[in-house]
Amino acid sequence: MHYQAKILVVDDNKVNVELIRAQLKAFPYEVIPAYDGEDALKKVETHNPDLVLLDLMMPKVSGYEVCKAIKQNIKTQFIPVIVITALHELDDKLKAIELGADDFLVKPFNKLELTTRIKSLLHVKTLHDDLDHTESILFSLANALEAKDVYTHGHSGRVAKYAVCLAKALTLSPREIEHIRRGALLHDIGKIGVKEDVLLKPGKLTPEEMEHIKSHAIRGYDICVPLKSLHDVLPCIRCHHERYDGSGYPDALIGDNIPLKGQITAIADAFDAMTSDRPYRKGFTQDIAAKILEDEISSGQWNPAIVRVFLDLIKRNFNI
Ligand SMILES: [Fe+2]
Ligand SMILES: [Fe+2]
Repeated sequence: MHYQAKILVVDDNKVNVELIRAQLKAFPYEVIPAYDGEDALKKVETHNPDLVLLDLMMPKVSGYEVCKAIKQNIKTQFIPVIVITALHELDDKLKAIELGADDFLVKPFNKLELTTRIKSLLHVKTLHDDLDHTESILFSLANALEAKDVYTHGHSGRVAKYAVCLAKALTLSPREIEHIRRGALLHDIGKIGVKEDVLLKPGKLTPEEMEHIKSHAIRGYDICVPLKSLHDVLPCIRCHHERYDGSGYPDALIGDNIPLKGQITAIADAFDAMTSDRPYRKGFTQDIAAKILEDEISSGQWNPAIVRVFLDLIKRNFNI
């Protein structure tokens, strides 16, 4: 059976909902009705619709608020929203554009207008879903890579947790925090291109082997750079081994030339590396790792303001 796109139709007037349902009858869509804003928001969560048709004027929670809530939530922001207005409501339209509505239908609209708009926005939604799919393959690869080695198992997940806490404490926006979470999960993805015997070598590495391992930062960047949706997470991948004093790699950036997302991922990564077991040593306790990070402020490795916030988080056991 073909997939039926789910369309959430939100209108406090049941007759309007039924009218739209009748107009869509011949199409492969499943209509989910919602008769007020509150109900609409609940159904966005429970039914994960592919598109929302939204009346603006509703009692209690208005269409504006529903639109705003959908577009501000990272999980639902790519669900297309078509706002239904009356012809004279120009101000309403402008306001809805500001809130992120994707298109408009002016009442009364005919079947052709309705279905053409739905079709084109569903197409855009499918493209987004495909991108999501590509991204999720990368996340699976990153997981598979870690699973090969008991010593790195769970590393990216922990780095993401520490990096997100730090980003929150630095009051970054929800969008940036989400970039950091995804970037931290993928930060070592470039190790896919590193030879396994070098990656898993228990003994001391030769200078050539060391250089080969270091190449993972650029390799990871090269893997992710073609994906537009990962554009904002790239600094976490490329710059997670940069150091504030310019002693890091791959670009030996100095100070705040290192993008903030890179600095945050680098601190989280270094902390997890210190507190994890390695074939040649046991992991340090969090207190000892904190002491080392503190010492590294004076040697210039970290942005002092950022690492101090992180030290405070360690003290609070990352409860934020
Ligand atoms: Fe790394
Ligand atoms: Fe790492």
